Amino acid sequence: MGLRFLTAGESHGKRLVVILDGMPKGLPIENERVRSELKRRQGGYGRGRRMQIESDTPEFLSGVRFGKTLGSPIAVSIENEDFQSWQDAMAPFGEQTDKRAVTRPRPGHADLAGGLKYHTHELRDILERASARETAARVVVGALCKLLLQALGVRVLGHVLSIGKAKAPSKQTLSEADWQRALASEVACIDPNAETDMIEAIEQAKKDGDTLGGVAEVRVLGLVPGLGSHVQWDLKLDGGLARALMSIPAIKAVAIGEGFEAAEKKGSEVHDAIFFDKKQGFYRKTNRSGGLEGGMTTGEELIVRAFMKPIATLMNPLPSVNVRTKQPEPAEIERSDTCAVPAMCVVAEAMVAFVLADAYLQKLGGDTLGELIERLDRYKNLLEEY
Ligand SMILES: Cc1cc2nc3c(=O)[nH]c(=O)nc-3n(C[C@H](O)[C@H](O)[C@H](O)COP(=O)(O)O)c2cc1C
Repeated sequence: MGLRFLTAGESHGKRLVVILDGMPKGLPIENERVRSELKRRQGGYGRGRRMQIESDTPEFLSGVRFGKTLGSPIAVSIENEDFQSWQDAMAPFGEQTDKRAVTRPRPGHADLAGGLKYHTHELRDILERASARETAARVVVGALCKLLLQALGVRVLGHVLSIGKAKAPSKQTLSEADWQRALASEVACIDPNAETDMIEAIEQAKKDGDTLGGVAEVRVLGLVPGLGSHVQWDLKLDGGLARALMSIPAIKAVAIGEGFEAAEKKGSEVHDAIFFDKKQGFYRKTNRSGGLEGGMTTGEELIVRAFMKPIATLMNPLPSVNVRTKQPEPAEIERSDTCAVPAMCVVAEAMVAFVLADAYLQKLGGDTLGELIERLDRYKNLLEEY
């Protein structure tokens, strides 16, 4: 069956809840790792005030006992500390006493399409769930999947390549020092000059009442070849990764390896020639494919990029129309981020970790971590014999 997860929760509701189903038994879980991933998502230059007043804490409700997974569904909740001030507006029962409905849809957000679809003029019914607050629950899933992948010798890392027009220089290989810099940077950037440009760009956008998007890159080290499959459309790993990344709010494009750039080049400039030596086995000198060919991992580093559009809530709002009166009015202003690319990067890592943890389970099966590792070792021996 593999892994699956569902989330529940409104942005200003009482709690977020996530259920992750299909994790093998016996995986050590460090609560601190889950906490620190949530903290990474909350941070980043350009986030709104809400992220500064809340501190996301995961509460494990099921599936983990004495620090190890049981093999049963893992349920985790995160309290919305902001709920205190939203109790009346978001009460599950009773009457709406606060009559101020959200009626001026924000261009670029889910407000109008959702209002039309659900035939409601109270757009808060839509925006509460469309809000990217939900991605905190995905980061919990990602943290758990990263722990599973770590036990299989795999690391998932991310960094920000650009914010608006401020770009970090592209690098084929990233060193441990680069990754540590990205972790320490307020914009998750490996390059100090680009970091300054990115922060300045965010400051300028904020002054202008405007917002910015950008690009994050996720790289995965230590993958075996042959994860995913070429035999059926929905088993192709590139398709699975693209879907998972595109499902993150505000992601409008995904690139695998050279992605967009490859479409402009000749085949001889794009494909990664194949070499062999006794020590390394089959290997490539370049990795323009981003570690995926035919819907399967090649054994090279996996490299994917997620492209985020600018935040839809503008402090200097675009024209809109009041859905009740049908009169032109500026779009609604909600407390909001100026730029959330660094936070999106953490969510992108989480989604990639989920897809890959699932791919390992699909390939190897097994009910316990021990079984999974045994099967992985056997597969690695087969690869060596090839
Ligand atoms: C981490 C993260 C934080 C976000 N924060 C905001 C925000 O504060 N305000 C906002 O209007 N949109 C924010 N967004 C984007 C919206 O959730 C998204 O644009 C909206 O749900 C519409 O979906 P779509 O852009 O995928 O069409 C954020 C997205 C991510 C990934």
